[in-house]
Amino acid sequence: MLDQRRLPGEEIYLTLTTPEAVADAIRDMAIRGAPAIGVAAAMGLALGFARPDGREDPLVRFERLARLLAATRPTAVNLFWAIDRMRTRFNRERREPGRDLTAALIEEALAIERDDVQANRAMGRHGAALLADDCRVLTHCNAGALATAGYGTALGVVRAATEQGKRVAVYADETRPFLQGARLTAWELQKDGIPVTLLTDGMAGHLFQKKAIDVCIVGADRIAGNGDVANKIGTYQVAVLAQAHGVPFYVAAPISTVDLSLPDGTAIPIEERDPGEVTHLAGTAIAPAGVRAINPAFDVTPARLVGAIITERGIARAPYDRSLPALCRAAVPAR
Ligand code: MRU
Repeated sequence: MLDQRRLPGEEIYLTLTTPEAVADAIRDMAIRGAPAIGVAAAMGLALGFARPDGREDPLVRFERLARLLAATRPTAVNLFWAIDRMRTRFNRERREPGRDLTAALIEEALAIERDDVQANRAMGRHGAALLADDCRVLTHCNAGALATAGYGTALGVVRAATEQGKRVAVYADETRPFLQGARLTAWELQKDGIPVTLLTDGMAGHLFQKKAIDVCIVGADRIAGNGDVANKIGTYQVAVLAQAHGVPFYVAAPISTVDLSLPDGTAIPIEERDPGEVTHLAGTAIAPAGVRAINPAFDVTPARLVGAIITERGIARAPYDRSLPALCRAAVPAR
């Protein structure tokens, strides 16, 4: 796995040979971004299953690995969705005599990876229709190829519009404290030759006032049944600014990010990370020793601020408590 903690300075690939190493890579954010976390967890499960531990019963082994990987990060529902999809396949296969369970789990993990790229491309096609030629897009965090199995969700929409010949320029919030915007979004857009301008999170209001933003597109870690969206900390203030300035605010996310079991965003678990990520930058203290700091990694943007949710099955609009269940039930379009 490409170690995202080292970007943009170094492109280092990690070889993870145990499920524990995969779990650590997810927890420590070597791999991050909701869909990428799900794909990595599925691969970690398959990897763990491929290395038998004595005479452990297969079902006990599967559930032990599932618990290990599920305990890494709490907010992105794609993690639990991917583990559930692996469990469904596992339970189906183990009821058939003579099945190679390891081969089946590897196949399912690779299918999850493949499906994610296809979903991102479909999302890109739907979302590109919302972008005018010559537009300026504000994004927050990194919802790009790095955060997925490839192509990206919010940045997938930007990529698709660019591929259609539209001129799209991206403003990337640096995204304190982990700097996914500065380190990752700027890196991958620059690599693709898509114009990108970096700003600190506090500069966004000024840009809105100057009418420099035409549209906002962000990703999501979990979307409740009513359309409330959990995404990287700082997303909510972007949505409030967008509304105050009459700028559309869109969310791009696969159906695997929608959690219909939660009626609204108040029940979404928000990950609290080490305050050291706030008081220190690349190992250097930027605050006085001993100062109290908080580090909620996500916030919830209420559905009323969300102009549209772009999925691989089409675009959901308010009222989301009707449009999201309809999309979740919709047959998956033929590839
Ligand atoms: O803490 P991170 O870097 O995993 O958070 C990532 C985000 O908040 C992304 O915007 C979200 O996962 C969508 S990625 C397509």
